[in-house]
Amino acid sequence: MRTALRLVVAVVTMVVLVVGGFAAYIAWSFSTASIDTIGKVDFDRPLVIPPLAKSTVDAKGVRTFDLSMQAGETDLGRGGATRTWGFNGAFLGPTLRATRGEQVRVNVSNRLDETSTVHWHGMHLPAAMDGGPHQAINPGGTWSPHWQVDQPAATLWYHPHPHGETAKHVYRGLAGMFIIDDANDVALPKTYGLDDFPILVQDKAFDGSQLDDTHGLFQSAGILGDTVLVNGTPGPFLDVVTERVRLRVLNGSNARVYRFHFDDNRAYAVVASDGGLLPRPVETRELLLSPGERAEIVVTVRPGDRTVLQSTPPFVDTNRFTGDTDRLDILELRGAATLRPSPAIPSDLAPAPDLSDDPVSATREISLSGSNTNFGKMDMERVDVVSRLDTTEVWDVTNSDGQAHNFHIHDVQFQVTRYAGGPPPAVLAGWKDTIFIAPNESVELRMRFADFADANNPYMFHCHLLRHEDQGLMGQFVVARPGEAVGGIHVPGHVDHVAGSEPSDGHARHAD
Ligand code: C2O
Ligand code: CU
Repeated sequence: MRTALRLVVAVVTMVVLVVGGFAAYIAWSFSTASIDTIGKVDFDRPLVIPPLAKSTVDAKGVRTFDLSMQAGETDLGRGGATRTWGFNGAFLGPTLRATRGEQVRVNVSNRLDETSTVHWHGMHLPAAMDGGPHQAINPGGTWSPHWQVDQPAATLWYHPHPHGETAKHVYRGLAGMFIIDDANDVALPKTYGLDDFPILVQDKAFDGSQLDDTHGLFQSAGILGDTVLVNGTPGPFLDVVTERVRLRVLNGSNARVYRFHFDDNRAYAVVASDGGLLPRPVETRELLLSPGERAEIVVTVRPGDRTVLQSTPPFVDTNRFTGDTDRLDILELRGAATLRPSPAIPSDLAPAPDLSDDPVSATREISLSGSNTNFGKMDMERVDVVSRLDTTEVWDVTNSDGQAHNFHIHDVQFQVTRYAGGPPPAVLAGWKDTIFIAPNESVELRMRFADFADANNPYMFHCHLLRHEDQGLMGQFVVARPGEAVGGIHVPGHVDHVAGSEPSDGHARHAD
């Protein structure tokens, strides 16, 4: 009897301890889930400006860049060297720059001890050159994609896209910008590093001096850090010497959605979105950017000014575990005592996307939920969508979850025709390749598949919250010629050299 009683007491005690411990853990998770760094960041380091990548132009006019993926150590302000990855250096990568019409080639060599890939986010190019999970580069290998740049001036970027490992590779530091110029010479600030700046924003979590890539129990979106780096700089300030600066803002974070505004609530002009200049500048005081999205903003500064770029909670219906309640100090702008004059912002910038009157050859319903699209989880050997060359389609994309997602598609820039049940806001009136979709909302996108057909190499579409993407919230589409059968997708096992050597291969436009 006494033994039985003891047993009961022991079991009850254990249950109480386990339940209590779990409750305490949940309470602790809640209390630590919100991050607030407003007023707590010492802006004591000059913003690092990534160098422009060197390139050579051969007799045929092909512009060639070299990128090497490598491991190294970086001072991220943690009082010790942080182990990081970078392109041509220890962390992040140089800014590639090319002009519309140019043939470019990039020799990408992998000096890591893991297989990776490099994807040109936002670039219109042949699928075999796209750098998605099928274009694997093994350790020691080199991949040399080449294509003709043919799209409007824009701020694009490049980052790894290895199957299931994208979050880790980007988080460690593999990311850089790719700026495209064109002949549309609008009067905007345009001198790189003087009045035109890349602003690559990434949040990091640390464990001591090392990057922490674990995420909390409820952080299904992935890693959310309490340190925001801009171009890899912790606590950055930027000395402004002109009346206006153009900031090419890229959310290069794994999971975090930012709502950018200034601490003095000043208005600024949004002049470009993912795929290039907006039809006209949009004056705003806040702008939401989800992972992978870009916006170019022009900020007007007064002599001796100080203003801090911050992020405030992106949504009204808050979820602590997706960073939705966080408030962050990001970058301080410091106006010089005297400022050089800048041109006024033009009222017309570029032609608006023009697919509204195209005949629509297919309307597709895509839904995002957990780690599945309506086609299931990402499968390297399954083609989910076959689109036809020289046709326009409507993609109705729904976030059927209670958590935020976004949607990115390779190869094309799309026109947003409906956003959350209404016409798109003015900041979404330009070309886009990535779009935020709030919980239980949907968007209607119109896109044209032009120039490049390849029935055997797929492009990707996916959520750009990298953990979601890695877990399977991604699908594959091919662009095939009308009537052309779609072959099986060849999954390369270990390929060191994917692309051919002649700049004309892979250009389906020349193949007919
Ligand atoms: Cu920025 Cu499919 O990627
Ligand atoms: Cu997602």
